[in-house]
Amino acid sequence: MDIRKETIFQDTAKLTIGDLSVELPVITGSEGEKAIDISSLRNQTGFITMDPGLGNTGICTSRITFMDGEKGILRYRGIPVEELAEHSTFVETAYLLINGMLPTRKQLNSFSVQLNDQSLVHEDMKGFYQNFPPRSHPMGILSSMVNTLESFYPILKKSETREEEINITLTRIISKVRTMAAMSYKISRGHKVVYPRPDLCYCGNFFNMMFDSPVRPYQVDENAIKALNVFWILHADHEQNCSTSAVRLVASGRVNIYAAISAGIAALWGPLHGGANQAVIEMLEAIQADGGNIRPFVERAKDKNDPFRLMGFGHRVYKTYDPRAKIIKKTADMLFEKMQVSDPLLDIALELEEVALKDNYFIDHNLYPNVDFYSGIVLRTLGIPTNMFTVMFALGRMPGWIAQWKEDADNPKWRLYRPRQIYTGNKTNHYVPIGERA
Ligand code: ACO
Repeated sequence: MDIRKETIFQDTAKLTIGDLSVELPVITGSEGEKAIDISSLRNQTGFITMDPGLGNTGICTSRITFMDGEKGILRYRGIPVEELAEHSTFVETAYLLINGMLPTRKQLNSFSVQLNDQSLVHEDMKGFYQNFPPRSHPMGILSSMVNTLESFYPILKKSETREEEINITLTRIISKVRTMAAMSYKISRGHKVVYPRPDLCYCGNFFNMMFDSPVRPYQVDENAIKALNVFWILHADHEQNCSTSAVRLVASGRVNIYAAISAGIAALWGPLHGGANQAVIEMLEAIQADGGNIRPFVERAKDKNDPFRLMGFGHRVYKTYDPRAKIIKKTADMLFEKMQVSDPLLDIALELEEVALKDNYFIDHNLYPNVDFYSGIVLRTLGIPTNMFTVMFALGRMPGWIAQWKEDADNPKWRLYRPRQIYTGNKTNHYVPIGERA
């Protein structure tokens, strides 16, 4: 059948399928992005659309995050991520994402007090951590434990209004995941758990819970705190990526928010997504162990018969340098200078970037470093163990997942996500008793 798509980018798009012609509404975003609304397509024509990988499919309109992959733009609630990384804190940015505006001083104080009030986790949760086998990956543990929060902190209390209940639940998640991640680390090392301290900021508190010990008490380091704030701000949201879509999809069945966030953590774990920050360091270490020669790795990444890819390179949306990668690279430089340390993996990363950016394969495929390329170097410098890198990403992404969940939950037209398919299997077949089968 002859199918022609004729798009009039005004109010409607005209779709012609053989003799049938339908007008479909065009939605225009505040930055001029356009979408053809096909929600009535099947009813009108019997057709569905096909878009494996969903590269051309919008699943929602959203007021939270804007990104332009061609120009390398990322803004939260309209504010460029560069400005937030320079001037804001993770807690303030979390408030911005969830509530839609920067907080007043009073609102920020009250948000911080709520985060402090929610920072302890139930003592019985320690037992769960102690019973994970020692080789368990911290992302699997975090995903399971966030799901478990529902048993310890049920969502609804009759006395609370929905607004209050939501605020308590959201701050509870943001605050407790940080405690849980540090607790998991301490228990995995066989060390005593360190409790949150209300006198420390969100990032300082995390460092204290991770690294304070009777033999080496934690010393506040403002450079490390700045670097962690930047790292978490850069990871706080990224519109409809794999894990955020997972949160929205799972939540659309009206499951509790902890289960939806737990699904987001599971989705983030993969090496093509958030797990890339761990994979980058493992790749740089492999190059180092191989004598530091990057050429064979670049050649392997280009070889279609080899599944190897340059980790930390490429992005579904960015077809230019990821703006977050520029900022995190500067943060690495700042840390090295202030802490007077160096890392041979940074030299390998710099050389790899230089070679790849001049290579025709990477130029033709628009492959540039993404946020994960340098973020592992920053996390290493901050003393975070490699297997916890993706957990660090997940902690940063909490406000984004929550804001995206809330946007759906507040939408009176919120529907169950239920994609379709085109079946290509057997036509009607009949059951044959086992003794009669050929
Ligand atoms: N190294 C080598 N080739 C690559 C790379 C890479 N890192 N990334 C993409 N390509 C090539 C593919 O082989 C393909 O080539 P072809 O068209 O000649 O067959 C082409 O570029 C397009 O690749 P796709 O996989 O179709 O692109 P997609 O948009 O689906 O993938 C992704 C994006 C998954 C991020 C990909 O670039 C990749 O695997 N990168 C490495 C993993 C990584 O760094 N992930 C982190 C992403 S950022 C984040 O999630 C936080």
